[in-house]
Amino acid sequence: MERGPSRPRPVRDPTRRDTGQERITITDHSEAAHLPPTVTADHGTTLLEYRRARGRQHVRDWYAGLRIKKFPEDLRVFEHVLWSARVQVVVELGTHLGGSALWFRDRLRTQAGYGRVPEAIRVISVDLDQDRAAGLLRAADPAFDREITLVAGDVTDPGLADRVADLVPPGARCLVVEDTLHEYATTIAALRNFAHLVPTGGFFVVEDGIVDDPDLCPPGMPGGVLPAVADWLAGEQGSAFTTRRDLELYGVTSHPHGWLQRTAHAC
Ligand SMILES: C[S@@+](CC[C@H](N)C(=O)[O-])C[C@H]1O[C@@H](n2cnc3c(N)ncnc32)[C@H](O)[C@@H]1O
Repeated sequence: MERGPSRPRPVRDPTRRDTGQERITITDHSEAAHLPPTVTADHGTTLLEYRRARGRQHVRDWYAGLRIKKFPEDLRVFEHVLWSARVQVVVELGTHLGGSALWFRDRLRTQAGYGRVPEAIRVISVDLDQDRAAGLLRAADPAFDREITLVAGDVTDPGLADRVADLVPPGARCLVVEDTLHEYATTIAALRNFAHLVPTGGFFVVEDGIVDDPDLCPPGMPGGVLPAVADWLAGEQGSAFTTRRDLELYGVTSHPHGWLQRTAHAC
């Protein structure tokens, strides 16, 4: 069934390859409208079919005219975490096209507007190359760089974390989001190199542990996120963190085992 005020052109349901049936409908909206394809599900749809359709949808979503690759449910959890941990600075590893950096900036602005955190909010977003994101962010907000700093670098480079740390205002409470390659080496490097930026009570969010679920892993991704998280948690650095599976609040998440809270002081 199509939803919404307009009547976008229906396209053939790609989930038919999975199920042989048409119980899930994905409707392709015009990209100019900045809407993701609609997912609808009838009562005969299995949860697994629905989750797969949502997974395909989430890489085609938008925020303020920019691409963002996050489930709405995960964005809500981020809102809870940002608020409860009084986050003033987000260190995002994996900028891509800039939509998530802009989303984090806007949430931090809201927190500052309510007096929850100091006015000096900042998003520091890292990617291998930042030219494309910079252009897109500038088109969305010509003054984006007042609060969003794009850093070109590789999360596996141990020197990168020092460059990022230099950009954090003294005493600011940081949240770190790892959203790069979703493989073992990048995940464990991100945890090792950036976890020290997280204060007690703060969060390190490892995204897309879903790649280690054989039923939900997108094609071509080797996995390794959850083994990296488990290995890191078993070490000295990780022993200060607790996995908050209770924060997978809405059932649908791309980040199982990924909401990590520092519950002990840094060594
Ligand atoms: C999943 S996308 C990020 C999506 C974005 N955070 C969002 O929610 O819309 C992953 C990004 O990580 C970057 N990346 C991959 N390996 C990296 C590495 N070793 N260091 C830094 N960035 C990396 C890629 O270039 C890509 O833009």
